Amino acid sequence: MTQINDTSRDFRLDQEYQPQKFFKHAVYNHWDPYEDVPQQLLVDDREKLVDHGLTRDEFEEFMNALALFGAGEEAVTEDLAPLMAVLEDVNDQMYISSQIYEEAKHTQFFDRYWREVVFPVAEELGFEKVYPTDQRFFMDGYVSLFDKNEAAMEKLHEEDTPENRAEAYCHYHLTVEGVVAQTAYYGFESAFSPRADDISAREYPDLEGLIEGTAYVRSDEGRHVGFGMFKIQQLLEDGVDEAVIHETMTDLLPDVYDIFEGFELLFEADALVDYASEKFDHRMETITDTDHELPPVERLVEVER
Ligand SMILES: [Fe+2]
Ligand SMILES: [Fe+2]
Repeated sequence: MTQINDTSRDFRLDQEYQPQKFFKHAVYNHWDPYEDVPQQLLVDDREKLVDHGLTRDEFEEFMNALALFGAGEEAVTEDLAPLMAVLEDVNDQMYISSQIYEEAKHTQFFDRYWREVVFPVAEELGFEKVYPTDQRFFMDGYVSLFDKNEAAMEKLHEEDTPENRAEAYCHYHLTVEGVVAQTAYYGFESAFSPRADDISAREYPDLEGLIEGTAYVRSDEGRHVGFGMFKIQQLLEDGVDEAVIHETMTDLLPDVYDIFEGFELLFEADALVDYASEKFDHRMETITDTDHELPPVERLVEVER
């Protein structure tokens, strides 16, 4: 409770500090995972998928992509709590509280989608009703990536050093959120919305419920990635060696590729892997370019879109 009577500050909060701006942005852009994606859009998604007559294999890939998302959101929700415990600045704590809340909302949206779209579609098309926790969905790279994430977080508990913090941000904010999730949104939008740079492997209906839900998720993720980049840049300025960032991210890259390589019916796997690789390079360049300044928060979300 040392901060209560900390007289080195005048006001309690620093309104000019980037994470405090992210917090404000999060409050302004609040959305409700139960109501803001209208029920009717999910009913429409359901009908379109049934009318389209997805094959069993296509449906399996569709479930797989959603299951990976749901599990990822849950993992981040769970594993961010330790980061909250080590951050001592109240502005950072406020930001992380908004991120944990948002990850919980993302987990909620994907759970809702499974109950209201995936299960009814399976029933209508006569396919097996598989739960999103089924182990068949989780390829080795995915399991390995999240195991490493958890280990990075554990390490923070044991030894809270600047290097270990940098590793934690590299795992969560840069790789899981900044590369894997961004690539997955791109794949979803390609397959299920009318976008121009289409990498879907076949024709699929436009699923407005799914796309609207992921658009909300995605705009939150813009802030999350922005926070991670901001903290890593701070750590580099404070003397953390750039090699720590490079080695950590490079170590995770084969796992990232493994996640996308197996898809063949919904998306062109090669195009997804290329996109992930581009995102990865872009993150690395932005982080390690000392002249590069993060765009203002209003633009950061657009940039990530
Ligand atoms: Fe999320
Ligand atoms: Fe996130």
